[in-house]
Amino acid sequence: METIIRGVRGSIANPAPDTIFYGGNTVCVELNTDSGATIFFDAGTGLREAGDLLPESGECHIIISHGHMDHMFGLWFFRPIHSPKWITHLYLPSWLENMPDFLYQCAFFPVPFKELRGDVRIHLVSAGATFEIPTPQGSEPIVVEPFAVCHPGGGLGYRVSVDNAMFVYGGDHEITDSPHAHSDAVKSLSGADIAIVDAMYNECDYHPGWGHSRWEDWVDVAQSAGVRNLVLTHHDPVRPDQELDKLDQKFSALESSDSKLKIYVAREGMRFTPKGPIPFTRNGSDWLLVFLERLSQYRDENSILDRILAKAREITHADAGTIYLREGNELVFAYTHNDTLFSADSAHKHIYVNIRMPISEKSIAGYVAATGCPLNIPNIRELPPGVPYSFNDSFDRSSGYFTYSMLVIPFFDKSSEVLGVLQLINSLNPQTKQPCFFNLSMMYNVRLLAREAAGILERSAVERHGIYGILRMAAVHDPSETGPHAERVGSIAAELYQCWAEHAGHIPDDIRYEKGHVRLASMLHDIGKVGISDLILKKPAKLTDEEFMVMRGHTEFGASIMAADPGTIAAYACEIARHHHQKWDGSGYAGSTNEGKLSGSDIPLMARITAIADVFDALVSKRCYKKPWSIEEALLEMKKEAGRHFDPSLIALLPEIRDLITSIYKKFPE
Ligand code: C2E
Ligand code: SIN
Ligand code: SIN
Ligand code: FE
Ligand code: FE
Repeated sequence: METIIRGVRGSIANPAPDTIFYGGNTVCVELNTDSGATIFFDAGTGLREAGDLLPESGECHIIISHGHMDHMFGLWFFRPIHSPKWITHLYLPSWLENMPDFLYQCAFFPVPFKELRGDVRIHLVSAGATFEIPTPQGSEPIVVEPFAVCHPGGGLGYRVSVDNAMFVYGGDHEITDSPHAHSDAVKSLSGADIAIVDAMYNECDYHPGWGHSRWEDWVDVAQSAGVRNLVLTHHDPVRPDQELDKLDQKFSALESSDSKLKIYVAREGMRFTPKGPIPFTRNGSDWLLVFLERLSQYRDENSILDRILAKAREITHADAGTIYLREGNELVFAYTHNDTLFSADSAHKHIYVNIRMPISEKSIAGYVAATGCPLNIPNIRELPPGVPYSFNDSFDRSSGYFTYSMLVIPFFDKSSEVLGVLQLINSLNPQTKQPCFFNLSMMYNVRLLAREAAGILERSAVERHGIYGILRMAAVHDPSETGPHAERVGSIAAELYQCWAEHAGHIPDDIRYEKGHVRLASMLHDIGKVGISDLILKKPAKLTDEEFMVMRGHTEFGASIMAADPGTIAAYACEIARHHHQKWDGSGYAGSTNEGKLSGSDIPLMARITAIADVFDALVSKRCYKKPWSIEEALLEMKKEAGRHFDPSLIALLPEIRDLITSIYKKFPE
């Protein structure tokens, strides 16, 4: 069984720029059973599009909760009732018996009910009188139990037993302050796998007697009723996306609590099974699902950022885009594309730029991070009067770029903190290639993308912070293993790997995937130094032969710490830790004995790459036992050692990443 939210507003439809994300249609819910039955609950304006998506011919069911117009208006424009190839069963509360003739009179609609081309069959239902809906395949019928709700003029809700699950459509219902209101509501929702309820109000804007509930009450009720998935709908027509977002974030923050209840704010197009929501897209196209599945295979944050940016630009035809990530009270430039200034293939070369800005309402990205509100700016040079932010044109001036329109969307983590900001620039008309503004459907799709991809981004950040944590622990013992040193070794190794893989003709997707592993795993190459005594590690002079023998043990000790299942980052780190002091000519080591020595291409590639990054950075850095060298001196030394210490074919690639190395040292200074 799967249910799809088709309309979410109460009272009146309100399609508007600030309702586009959750949707502007009035209430309608679609339920598709495993046996192939299609059932709609209420016929708000959301029913129209749902009808357009149905096949040429068939049979469907519409169950109405009450006759208020926001629950009926879509019926007129539901394609099946105008098609001779469709049978539509309309289940009406008994007091609405004359409703169809009344609705389809010429004062309201051009075609009288009796003359509709489709076969519409009326069934009258009432509270407590359970009825059955036969299934197309003749399997177990679907059992529907109507119950009375509290709403002006009366109304019904429905408990539906279907596909071994309990689905409840709550209709319009006010949980009043009267003594039985709470327990009645608990009874109607009891044991629901999915319950869809009218939460038009909150504690602050509640209108007693208007027939709608506060979401806070539903949360209490659902808790007592043992509901699994509570879906809040019938939103106030003017409640903007921002406000619903805040509410939704409140509930995702609750998710970690051990209650089995999950709460969702209904959004058009959202789909649920009894297990929970399914990532969705509009009109059944599954680009987002396919995208997220791929994205979740990446580990490296840069690769994830690259893919998100590429997808967001594809959706919006944006010429350029930048992702900023939040670090404390600052936004840090993390990834950028700019088709006018450089090709997307070389985007990785621009990630080592050290740009930071405070999170304040003065800059555009800062405003979005500070408020959590997206901005869609049609013309950056004509900002609305009175806004706190302004456009900083220093990038345009220094690069010769011309920024015209901008779409800026926040990413949130699980606890509703801003994780970063996605800034898209200049949506290009696909024909003329002229910059134009970002339209609403672009904005909708990018918000959806940011929302769904944020979890994957957050997970990669968690992994990165985990590695930082390990490195910080190591740094307590050995100050040379600081964050910047590990970042530099990781970045140099990652770039050297990419250069090698491009020469070897690997496909970009594989390169991105491997590169992420190389970056994170090589950061941990010296983790085994935590097992070496301070007397040796911090000796401000040359080590004796005996001391050096002990020191050599950091390789196998590191490998033993990181040992893990193949394919994981830890497994890469294990291999790198063990072999990063092997030498091409066989004179290196992989432990404090002479066992396990390797030479040439028997040394794992990732270890050969890390050896170069590690020694290069050791030379350029200050150590307790040595002075820092210049980048030029270090490069010369590396070249001298090609074929002796290092794989000569890798050393031959260093000139190609020379500029990147310089920017890496600028981004991660000591
Ligand atoms: P490390 O400081 O991270 O250095 C890593 C590798 O960079 C060294 O591996 C070596 O191959 C290279 N390297 C570092 N400094 C120089 C240098 O001045 N000249 C040249 N040609 N190469 C250099 P290695 O030798 O196997 O040492 C492994 C680790 O042992 C070092 O890691 C460091 O923690 C420690 N270590 C090595 N020699 C000394 C020393 O004389 N005194 C102290 N206190 N520690 C040392
Ligand atoms: C309805 O939402 O059912 C009609 C309008 C209202 O009661 O607020
Ligand atoms: C919608 O009706 O808004 C979306 C339809 C869908 O995702 O299937
Ligand atoms: Fe109503
Ligand atoms: Fe080492």
